[in-house]
Amino acid sequence: MTKILKELEVRRAGARAGGGERRVAAQHAKGKLSARERLEVLLDPGSFEEYDMFVTHRTTDFGMANQRHPGDGVVTGWGTINGRMVYVFSQDFTVLGGSVSETHGAKICKIMDMAMQNGAPVIGINDSGGARIQEGVGSLAAYGEVFQRNIEASGVVPQISLIMGPCAGGAVYSPAMTDFIFMVKDSSYMFVTGPDVVKTVTNEQVTAEELGGATTHTRKSSVADLAFENDIEALTEARRLIDFLPMSNRDKPPVRPFFDDPERVDESLDTLIPANPNTPYDMKELILKVADEGDFYEIQEEFAKNIITGFIRLEGSTVGVVANQPMVLAGVLDIDSARKAARFVRFCDAFEIPILTFVDVPGFLPGTTQEYGGVIKHGAKLLFAYGEATVPKVTVITRKAYGGAYVVMASKHLRADVNYAWPPSEIAVMGAKGATEILYRSELGDPEKIEARTKEYEDNFANPFKAAERGFIDEVILPRSTRRRVARAFAALRRKKQSRPWKKHDNIPL
Ligand code: HXC
Repeated sequence: MTKILKELEVRRAGARAGGGERRVAAQHAKGKLSARERLEVLLDPGSFEEYDMFVTHRTTDFGMANQRHPGDGVVTGWGTINGRMVYVFSQDFTVLGGSVSETHGAKICKIMDMAMQNGAPVIGINDSGGARIQEGVGSLAAYGEVFQRNIEASGVVPQISLIMGPCAGGAVYSPAMTDFIFMVKDSSYMFVTGPDVVKTVTNEQVTAEELGGATTHTRKSSVADLAFENDIEALTEARRLIDFLPMSNRDKPPVRPFFDDPERVDESLDTLIPANPNTPYDMKELILKVADEGDFYEIQEEFAKNIITGFIRLEGSTVGVVANQPMVLAGVLDIDSARKAARFVRFCDAFEIPILTFVDVPGFLPGTTQEYGGVIKHGAKLLFAYGEATVPKVTVITRKAYGGAYVVMASKHLRADVNYAWPPSEIAVMGAKGATEILYRSELGDPEKIEARTKEYEDNFANPFKAAERGFIDEVILPRSTRRRVARAFAALRRKKQSRPWKKHDNIPL
């Protein structure tokens, strides 16, 4: 017995050593943690339960029979984050570059299957040279099996990808299908083809960081949601994100203890809207003042800043927030902002997270770039996402809600449950100036007449009452009481049930 216990210890130590001290030191020299160190930061102390520590690959080609490492380049299992279960895999770059063999892929698939069956999120830490070159199609098949599970798990359990090293070629498509992607600046990259191939094919000279680094993907492509300075920051923020999310689509989002009065009134909100309707103000101020303890977890904060998306809590329960940002492009809707918000709304709906929408939108961005880029279809994504969402939806118009954008932004017509407006709201087909220029074109030469016409239009439509008279706005509320009104609205919607007509699935304009 003692002998076998000793052997177990020796075998475990061998697996835990990964690719050995020299390679772990090289990993540290790049500013990266090892696969196991990352799990230590991600999970509650002592909670990690490892599986398949002794799995090795079965390849013999290319001298691989002599290169067997227990664990085969990926550490898998489950643990807890603030007491709640998550399944994890962490690729070990020190073992054959974290490359994906048939057995490496099978280990990942095993924990994904368990996560779906047992209803817990999957967090994948990616640090890999890609398909194990010595295995050929066996490795590609392994990727394919992971992809298929990413698809099946989508909308069943939250999936989070942390990119903490190379992630290239077809390998990028597994993270791409997960719900959130975090990247680390200067030590991670994602691209379909690397700088050398790009140079050969297009003659563009670009570094890996420029082509697919964290800044590129969070600002330009929107492939990634958030960029962090180092591994520890990314892992700690993943813990914080998990705290907002339900374990699966079978559970409600978690309810945390809260220390902020839901009745709290904030008088400063009464002066948030500037006197001049064209002067911007910071919508984040409203979000922070409404949220429990001012805690806001922003998603995609560096991309399409004209719309804000993220999570807050109200009375301890998670709420997804979508808000136009008047500080950027006057809060206009365009291709990027519509795509960003649509994906967020669909995530919330898939996981029963209620949606709070703050509206101050002058319309859609005009121009050939937008039209050629397909703003019609991209704008329709957001419209579609709101209209199909059956979670509780509460909307507050703070200032402008013009034209199609009024309808798109969780209006009553898209089955929002409670629609509020602040007193300075203007709900109309367009702004007063544009409207009079169309209606009274023949009088454009007479500034006095035009001024009078504009005033008449403003008096008629630059208020929330026309919409309130029709019941499209349930109540005009005082800005100071927004937190209380919104919290009460969501409380009243806790048992909401809404069914949709049977269909296999919808055909959202992609
Ligand atoms: C087998 C690999 C490997 C791979 C790296 N290694 N990638 N072994 N298959 N794909 C091994 C190296 O041989 C080396 O072993 C160790 O990992 C560390 O690699 P280095 O090159 O020394 O590290 P570094 O200089 O940091 O460069 C990292 C790298 C580079 C940029 C990732 O290794 C690289 O370009 N690898 C090949 C990438 C690639 O072409 N992969 C296939 C992509 S296609 P030793 O023993 O010397 O330490 C793909 C398709 C997926 O992935 C399709 C899905 C459908």
